[in-house]
Amino acid sequence: MLFLLLAFLVALLPGGDTVEFKKPISFHVIQISSFYNRSWAENLFSGWLGELEIYRWDTESGSFVFLRSWSKGNFSSKEWMDLGEFLHTHLISFTQETWKYAHQLQAEYPFVLQVAAGCELHSGEASVGFVQEAYQGTDLLRFQNNSWLPSPEGGSKAQDVCRLLNKYEGLKERVHWLLSDTCPRFVLGLLDAGKADLQRQVRPEAWLSSGPRPGPGRLLLVCRVSGFYPKPVQVMWMRGNQEQPGTERSDILPNADGTWYLRVTLDVEAGDAAGLSCRVTHSSLGGQDIVLYWEHHTSIGFILLTVIVLLVLLAGLAIWFGKRWTHNCSPCTVASLK
Ligand SMILES: *[C@@H]1O[C@H](CO)[C@@H](O)[C@H](O)[C@H]1NC(C)=O
Ligand SMILES: *[C@@H]1O[C@H](CO)[C@@H](O)[C@H](O)[C@H]1NC(C)=O
Ligand SMILES: *[C@@H]1O[C@H](CO)[C@@H](O)[C@H](O)[C@H]1NC(C)=O
Repeated sequence: MLFLLLAFLVALLPGGDTVEFKKPISFHVIQISSFYNRSWAENLFSGWLGELEIYRWDTESGSFVFLRSWSKGNFSSKEWMDLGEFLHTHLISFTQETWKYAHQLQAEYPFVLQVAAGCELHSGEASVGFVQEAYQGTDLLRFQNNSWLPSPEGGSKAQDVCRLLNKYEGLKERVHWLLSDTCPRFVLGLLDAGKADLQRQVRPEAWLSSGPRPGPGRLLLVCRVSGFYPKPVQVMWMRGNQEQPGTERSDILPNADGTWYLRVTLDVEAGDAAGLSCRVTHSSLGGQDIVLYWEHHTSIGFILLTVIVLLVLLAGLAIWFGKRWTHNCSPCTVASLK
């Protein structure tokens, strides 16, 4: 079953120049195959550079959807078309082989198979390849030390699948070569093609608000940080230089434009809010952290309120004077007309 997926990887992987990068970076393809019954199955297939989805497979049209301008690396349209035909064939074969062995492997409909395959590059030359397959969300097997190893969680099903796959010596050699040689070369090429995009720096915007009151006499201070890239960011509620231990941080969530969003809250006694600030540290800020003070936030609110009250007062006065003016002047006008 995995053979074709891996063969797809072979075809997918171009050569590349050396590109500088600091942290480990991985490329992997994900296949999610849902088998509803003996005649109905669905496949989702996508390619990821780290946490960034760079392409997916559109089953309807039988073609790749490139999600970044550089997702193709330096492949020609012709090569991608060949890959598309290849993946199309692979998905059909994968589905049919699974149907064929489902009974023998005691797979019960409906079930889901997930496959992730790719490599992780560390600075220097080191690269670690991986293939993992899961059945119903539980690890089934992985490729390690040149053979298919059943996961303990996979039970006898995993052992049966591995026994089957391990008979194919040629396949194992090919997988090993793919993971250790071809995949890293592909990643380097992709990193080169996407360099400008991947190394961009986008400054965050940050703003404060208060959340739903956590309890009587308490305040939930909310600091929202959005639109930043790359993902690593540090956001803390501070008093002076002291980090506030109660700071709670949401997951870092993606915005539609590929930037990130984060919400960091602090539950405090209402009287203790004064003197607190939200500090944002991000690579795009060049060492100049964003610091937002809660007082300023509240005083801006206060100023707004004052302005609104003044405007209402002025409007009231204007109407009152307007009325007086018409009262006083209508007779004048009449008088002057006489
Ligand atoms: C892609 O780029 C790499 C190096 O940057 C080069 O070795 C390779 O020949 C290129 N492939 C194509 C198809 O242009
Ligand atoms: C498989 O599921 C589809 C959709 O529910 C149904 O139309 C079809 O008859 C089923 N086939 C079998 C063999 O159960
Ligand atoms: C890999 O397999 C070989 C031979 O089967 C064995 O000698 C070696 O200890 C294994 N290495 C690891 C890390 O499991």
